Parts: sequence; C-alpha cells; structure tokens
Amino acid sequence: MSESEYLAQAHLIERQTIEISPIKTSGLILDIGGGGEGIIGKLNGEQVVAIDKRQSELEETENKALKIVMDATDLKFLTETFTVATAFFTMMYIPNDLKQRVFEETYRVLKKGGCFYIWDANIPEKIDDKKYFVIPLEVIMPEETVETGYGVHLKKQEMQSLKQLALGTGFKIIKEETQEHTFYLKFEK
Ligand SMILES: C[S@@+](CC[C@H](N)C(=O)[O-])C[C@H]1O[C@@H](n2cnc3c(N)ncnc32)[C@H](O)[C@@H]1O
Repeated sequence: MSESEYLAQAHLIERQTIEISPIKTSGLILDIGGGGEGIIGKLNGEQVVAIDKRQSELEETENKALKIVMDATDLKFLTETFTVATAFFTMMYIPNDLKQRVFEETYRVLKKGGCFYIWDANIPEKIDDKKYFVIPLEVIMPEETVETGYGVHLKKQEMQSLKQLALGTGFKIIKEETQEHTFYLKFEK
C-alpha cells in the first residue's frame, strides 16, 4: 500500500506531547516492545533490556539497551528478574485478546515491589470508515526531543480496561494520569 493510500484510510489525531525522564531505579528495566525509537533505552541506557517480537524494529533502534527478539506473551526470563518493566506505546500494538497474557507475564518476571509503567493512547472503536489510528507524538526528554508517530489498525483501547486487566492480574495502581488522547499508568507488584 502506498503512503497516500494508507493516510487516506488513517485517522490522524493532532500531535500529542509527552515529557519523560529517566526512571529512578538501580536494577534492570524490562522494556516491552522496546524497538522503534526505543525511548526507554534512550533514557536509561544499559540498564534496559529491550524485547520486541520484530527483529527489524530492534535493528533500527539507536540506544545502549540490550536488545532481544522475544514475544511479550511468552517471556523467557526467570520469575522475579526485574525491578521495573515499561511499555511505551506498545499496548496499542498488542491485540486486545493477548493483553491479559502480557500483564501476567510482566507480573511474573517483576520482583515483589517492582513497578510496571505504561504510556499509551485511548483509541475509539470506530471513526467513520477509517482503518488505522495514527498518533503523532513529541517526546521531550532531558537530553533530546524525538518527533515520531505510532499507527495501528483501529481497535478500541481504553485506559480503564488496561487498568482492570492489571488489577485482575494482581498489580496495585500507584499513579494514573490522562492527557488529551494519551495516558500514563504506574503499577506495583
Ligand atoms: C510502536 S512500537 C513501541 C514504541 C517503542 N516502545 C518506542 O520507544 O519507540 C510497538 C512495538 O511493540 C512490538 N510488539 C507488538 N506486539 C508485541 C509482542 N507480543 N511482544 C513483543 N513486542 C511486541 C512491535 O513489534 C513494535 O515494535
């Protein structure tokens, strides 16, 4: 499909801005879907283990994270390995029927007291006859600003349902913030 055909079928929202700083932890950070821009790896460098099911996404990522091809629904790490897990605009790429599994696997590999941070977007079920949902994003970090865009097949995603899945898995909610189209959630095991 050409870019113009894609854009004709895409619902493009206005640019959203996210300000994000390095995560304060002395342990390892598991970044789920950490390919692409690799924002968490840009922030926390060698502390980050970035997994992505697509090798090509990891190959284009420029940061100091350890990059491993792995599916978030079937993590190959031992139970209670990480102090922090992150998912930066990854949940929107995961089919709704697999999200529960991703929460379960993330919960398993986190240490007790470990935290799971999610940044993502609320996506409506339907927008006219559009097939795709595209979110242009400005990510402001202390050392650099990245302009990017994340696009997926249109499928409903709401912060509330992610929260319910996480709580059902055993996570406790520590913090939640919503902006116009985006949200931030912090959970603890
Ligand atoms: C838009 S990217 C996320 C952006 C990235 N976190 C960043 O900082 O730029 C979403 C990524 O999630 C990955 N992904 C989707 N489903 C996955 C799964 N089940 N396991 C691992 N990675 C997955 C996709 O391959 C894609 O690279």
